[in-house]
Amino acid sequence: GLPEYVKVVEVGPRDGLQNEKVIVPTDIKIEFINQLSQTGLSVIEVTSFVSSRWVPQMADHTEVMKGIHQYPGVRYPVLTPNLQGFHRAVAAGATEISVFGAASESFSKKNINCSIEESMEKFEEVVKSARHMNIPARGYVSCVLGCPYEGSITPQKVTEVSKRLYGMGCYEISLGDTIGVGTPGSMKRMLESVMKEIPPSVLAVHCHDTYGQALANILTALQMGINVVDSAVSGLGGCPYAKGASGNVATEDLIYMLNGLGLNTGVDLYKVMEAGNFICKAVNKTTNSKVAQASFNA
Ligand code: HMG
Ligand code: MG
Repeated sequence: GLPEYVKVVEVGPRDGLQNEKVIVPTDIKIEFINQLSQTGLSVIEVTSFVSSRWVPQMADHTEVMKGIHQYPGVRYPVLTPNLQGFHRAVAAGATEISVFGAASESFSKKNINCSIEESMEKFEEVVKSARHMNIPARGYVSCVLGCPYEGSITPQKVTEVSKRLYGMGCYEISLGDTIGVGTPGSMKRMLESVMKEIPPSVLAVHCHDTYGQALANILTALQMGINVVDSAVSGLGGCPYAKGASGNVATEDLIYMLNGLGLNTGVDLYKVMEAGNFICKAVNKTTNSKVAQASFNA
């Protein structure tokens, strides 16, 4: 059956903005995050401590981290690919981090410039340091339902990488359909494999909506016992190292579906739509959220 409570992890400020060509002013990012903090969301991914030569949009990570108001009851994780990023994140005040690996060798090379094995060695150092400081670490696995360079990815490979991240101490494993090619069929096969090794209570799904399958894929995961879902306000998002990939599932659309299923999220849909409206105006984009489109036209 379906879970009673679903934790929504808002990745808009990070995944949503990282692929925007025009640099969003730091004060807009801070205002956006502060607005999201007042919607009832319990986790908001703020930024990435990556190289500004690789992802220029995230160059202001320290200013954003230091500038936001940290509301009680809200957690503010950041991406850290290596120890250098981890130390900078901690210096900026981060109290939760995420490492991000991939189930595809080619994607790992393009995204973080090292093999899967090399990345796991770096992540082990990061997660170990984090543990010493009582900083929870989340682990991402990208390309779980397909890779922009290799095509299909086996559930076995996803399971192997997930197990490695879980084993090193990541408290939650987020399974990313980076390019949004999955279907409920491939999602189910992948999860069946991963769930043989990792309990569903520590798994999350992270769906991009390139082929319009994100909500169906999420519903499939919920039916299999997963109750953590990543999404981005207005359906912003994409990875600079995954050409053609479109945005994340829109938080508004996810909340609308979860409300309809009678599942509790603690998130106020109207307030999320307002935050979406704010960021879309600021980056001069029309929303990708069907729910926001329908509501503003009503
Ligand atoms: P590298 O060039 O291999 O790093 O980059 P290096 O260790 O060889 O060092 C080279 C230079 O980078 C040095 O500077 C380092 O100081 C610097 P130099 O001496 O030449 O002046 N450097 C750093 N600078 C800032 N922050 C750091 C850092 N580390 C080294 N942490 C690196 C390796 C990982 C840094 C690079 O490849 C990178 O920044 N990649 C960006 C990855 C990224 O942000 N991708 C998007 C997020 S992942 C995603 O979107 C998928 C997800 O949403 C899930 C899904 O959808 O599936 C999570
Ligand atoms: Mg993503």
